Amino acid sequence: MSLSFVPQGLTVTANSAAALAQARQISDDLGTVLVAGSEALTGLVLEVSESGLALRDYSQPKSHPLRLDVTRSRYPGATRDLLARALGKKCRSVIDATAGFGADSFDFVRRGYRVTAIERVRLISLMLIDAASRCPDQEWLDRFQVIEGESIDWIPRLHRADVIFLDPMFPDIEKKTAQPRKAQQLLRQIAGSDSGSVDLLNTARRFAGQRVVVKRPRSARPLGAEPDHRFMGRSIRYDVYFSEKL
Ligand SMILES: C[S@@+](CC[C@H](N)C(=O)[O-])C[C@H]1O[C@@H](n2cnc3c(N)ncnc32)[C@H](O)[C@@H]1O
Repeated sequence: MSLSFVPQGLTVTANSAAALAQARQISDDLGTVLVAGSEALTGLVLEVSESGLALRDYSQPKSHPLRLDVTRSRYPGATRDLLARALGKKCRSVIDATAGFGADSFDFVRRGYRVTAIERVRLISLMLIDAASRCPDQEWLDRFQVIEGESIDWIPRLHRADVIFLDPMFPDIEKKTAQPRKAQQLLRQIAGSDSGSVDLLNTARRFAGQRVVVKRPRSARPLGAEPDHRFMGRSIRYDVYFSEKL
């Protein structure tokens, strides 16, 4: 997939006159059409306003705009927190190599880790950068960076993180789960299904300081080889692979 991948038919619109210049800049950047009035909107639309970027699928009746929010918490109770156990007690830094809409990345920052979020779809990385730029907490911001690009290329060039986290999309998710949530549906529409995840896992194992953690649906096959550890949740599990340091 090319780095400048843009969903077919994506339109950019400004929700106010004040947001027009930014909307124009983004539509130029993405090579998409800029639509001024709301009547003409169809399909997937990136809405630009002074309060941030939001994505909306106008082909879905009653759909609400999706806005990324770094402050929205889904931090679970400590004893049930599989993810903390999967990351390990010594983890201080994470590369989220499949950042998507950033729910996991933002969660890692809230847990106190230093986080590098890598996302290869430009539209999505723009939304991540915009959401982070609205965070009022400087200490939070100091521990977070977004990189747009292909993780297999970036991981060897970055400072080694304790954990590399992978949450790739895969073709069988919809057969195994109930109706996927709005964010997941949009992600699939924009990013497609992830190919090359096994190569990504192999690269991650070579460059992780401590381990690679892969998020999978509970009953899915492992991404590559059998993991060194598994942490089973009700609908998902975390597969842990110890690093193969160079
Ligand atoms: C299932 S989503 C991740 C969801 C994310 N964990 C969240 O909390 O929103 C997978 C994302 O990883 C991105 N991705 C997959 N493989 C990648 C790669 N090799 N390099 C960079 N981004 C990748 C896809 O474009 C997609 O946005």
